[in-house]
Amino acid sequence: MVKKIGIVGTGIMGNGITQVAAQAGYEVIMRDLEQKFIDRASDTIKKSLGMMKEKGKITADEVNQVLGRIKTTLDLKDVATSGAELIIEAVPEDLHLKKEVFRELDEICPKETVLATNTSSLSITVIAAATKRPEKVIGMHFSNPVPVMMGVELIKGRDTSEETLELAKEVCRKMGKEFFVAADFPGFAGNRMLPLFANEAFYLLWENIASAEDIDRMCKVLLRHPMGPLELADFTGLDTLLSVLEYLHKEIGEKYRPCPLLKQFVAAGHLGRKTGRGVYKYS
Ligand code: CAA
Repeated sequence: MVKKIGIVGTGIMGNGITQVAAQAGYEVIMRDLEQKFIDRASDTIKKSLGMMKEKGKITADEVNQVLGRIKTTLDLKDVATSGAELIIEAVPEDLHLKKEVFRELDEICPKETVLATNTSSLSITVIAAATKRPEKVIGMHFSNPVPVMMGVELIKGRDTSEETLELAKEVCRKMGKEFFVAADFPGFAGNRMLPLFANEAFYLLWENIASAEDIDRMCKVLLRHPMGPLELADFTGLDTLLSVLEYLHKEIGEKYRPCPLLKQFVAAGHLGRKTGRGVYKYS
């Protein structure tokens, strides 16, 4: 049974997973490379819990208990030796980087530790092959914002054991998340659909078919999506969307070719909310 969870990478996904894990009662240790990333993640978690407290979803005492269950570190060895039965990696969506993190974790973690990746599209089998424990490697793809979104996609690599899948399911249940099991194919299930939709929205904008506001409003009004695809791309990060599309384009083919306008936004450093400017401007 899992009692402690390690999180590697404290960006938008890593801090969200840390928060829901601590809210579920797990002891959590989160790690990043620099103190400023840890500080930013801790602030985000405090803000999110503060929002929940204001809405009466959680009490002040519970906020303190949740925060008390979270430890932070700059050293991956602290995560490996923390006693965490499950470590969830949430570093940027770069296969080389993820393989490197898994290779290192495999070297320094006890042999029974399960290693999960939050990748949204990269091959679990390839990431697992960087370790000597592929049966203990699994994909746990959370959705952003993690404290609000109810689903997790679970992906078995070629050698992932049933035991590892069961452990991931148990953790999802305890976090109050629904899970969906998908095969290890680029993009899995969720990210085969969503990037295609978002990419098409960028093509509509590029071809001057409709304004950004109208594209988003249309999806909210006609399709009842909570956010339009361009707003959502800004929210998730245009760089993340582009890297997912580039990977799917390479692995699956032409239909995922990234829209030149999306590439232009990323080249200009307009990555969405996190840089204050993407399709829209943010104050
Ligand atoms: N922490 C805690 N609570 C939060 C929160 C956070 N970070 N963000 C929002 N909330 C709460 C709000 O307090 C509010 O609570 P009440 O319903 O009790 O009032 C509720 O969530 C709704 O929030 P808001 O009223 O502020 O705004 P909203 O109605 O526009 O919802 C949203 C915001 C939840 C982000 C909503 O717009 C939404 O669901 N958007 C779509 C998100 C989505 O599609 N995510 C998937 C992205 S793709 C991905 O993650 C995978 C990938 O691979 C890239």
